[in-house]
Amino acid sequence: FRIPDLIIKKRNGHELTKEEIEYFIKSVCESNNNSVIQESQLGAMLMAIFFKGLNFNESYYITDSMMKSGARFSFKKHRNLVVDKHSTGGVGDKISLPLAPALAACGLKIPMISGRGLGFTGGTLDKLESIPGFKVSCSKEKIEGLIDEVGCCIVGQTLELNPADRILYATRDITGTVDCIPLIAGSIVSKKAIEDLDALVLDVKVGRAAFMNKLEQAELLADYMIQISRKLGLKAGVFLTRHDNPLGFAIGNQIEIIETVECLHGNISSDLEELVTSYGGYLLQRVDRCETMKEGAQIVLEKLKNGEALVKFRQMLIGQGVSREIADQLCKRNYEAVFAKNAVYVSTIRAQLSGNVKSIHALELGLLCSKLGAGRSKAGDDIFYEVGMKLIKQVGDKVEKNEPWIEVYHNSEHFDSQFAHKIMNSIEIVDYAVTSESSIIKII
Ligand code: URA
Repeated sequence: FRIPDLIIKKRNGHELTKEEIEYFIKSVCESNNNSVIQESQLGAMLMAIFFKGLNFNESYYITDSMMKSGARFSFKKHRNLVVDKHSTGGVGDKISLPLAPALAACGLKIPMISGRGLGFTGGTLDKLESIPGFKVSCSKEKIEGLIDEVGCCIVGQTLELNPADRILYATRDITGTVDCIPLIAGSIVSKKAIEDLDALVLDVKVGRAAFMNKLEQAELLADYMIQISRKLGLKAGVFLTRHDNPLGFAIGNQIEIIETVECLHGNISSDLEELVTSYGGYLLQRVDRCETMKEGAQIVLEKLKNGEALVKFRQMLIGQGVSREIADQLCKRNYEAVFAKNAVYVSTIRAQLSGNVKSIHALELGLLCSKLGAGRSKAGDDIFYEVGMKLIKQVGDKVEKNEPWIEVYHNSEHFDSQFAHKIMNSIEIVDYAVTSESSIIKII
């Protein structure tokens, strides 16, 4: 095969064969040695896929090839204990961070391969790397050791573990090819399929701050992921969840770690609590640790409130390279001792009128946060971990005119009146009572 021919074939809307897809993925993995495929060709192929799509068979083949691009785990000795959760991505979505240690505190094993920031959404790995010393690149043996000893780890794709997704993920982030059903399905399922799981729950977000804005698209993505998982022998369930407002009170990297630690002290906002406990409850039930999901959710909440999840979080930090001293300071909520670097500016935005908060435009805030330095515009761009936003008010809260509703932490002289205006317009305040609703649309 020749890569230019494959690009033209897809650009013209034709179906790629299994062998052609395998060749493409193999070439992607060899691209580090600058031979078979050039970066420009990779970008062109991703854009062709974005516009022309991949049918179910092509999507299955790309997922299977990505999964086989690296090593795979075998957790036989932990049978019926190995679980994971993955999200399609959101603004302020830090669910995995408290969930993995909470499940480990229940005795489960969570070998979580996660991702960096993608588009306007934050990445679990970037958030963790804001903790001094935290290492997201771990060898297979190291991960196996963490699973035996701690019960959980949160790591990234490496040259050894799904190298194909490592490259495609970073390229999609900077080529406008993130919100594409077969590429999301391939990326997520190929990572989870190497983890030798007993149960998997997928959070497919839908709404204005999700990659899928419409319910029909989200249902199609869910269906692709369930069917591909099934063909790969992986048992996956999907929660379709509404994502219009930021999740929790923090958007950013360092600040979402702070929110996670607060959550592990039982100080958790209701929207985050609902999803962390529901996913935990679902997984506990799937591996027969309880009768119902509700019962499981109660167990997870207990682990968050009684400090057992925090103990696991601390062990995970130390296991993944953080010094005991930093881990202790962080777990004791001594944030200033952990995060040496603070944003140069804190801009407080105030409400323009009195009333109740009906909505907060998560997409707008996610994009602004990324522009202020919390995200990337080129592969390998440095991230400013200290950049972020803290919601003082959340949906359903009362607010008075001139009361602060959000704080923005940034280093930028570019934070001008236009920026401030965009944030000001991201809140919708109404004169009637607002109740915050469940974000779970349905479970498949
Ligand atoms: N998470 C992933 O791992 N991949 C995607 O494409 C989107 C979310």
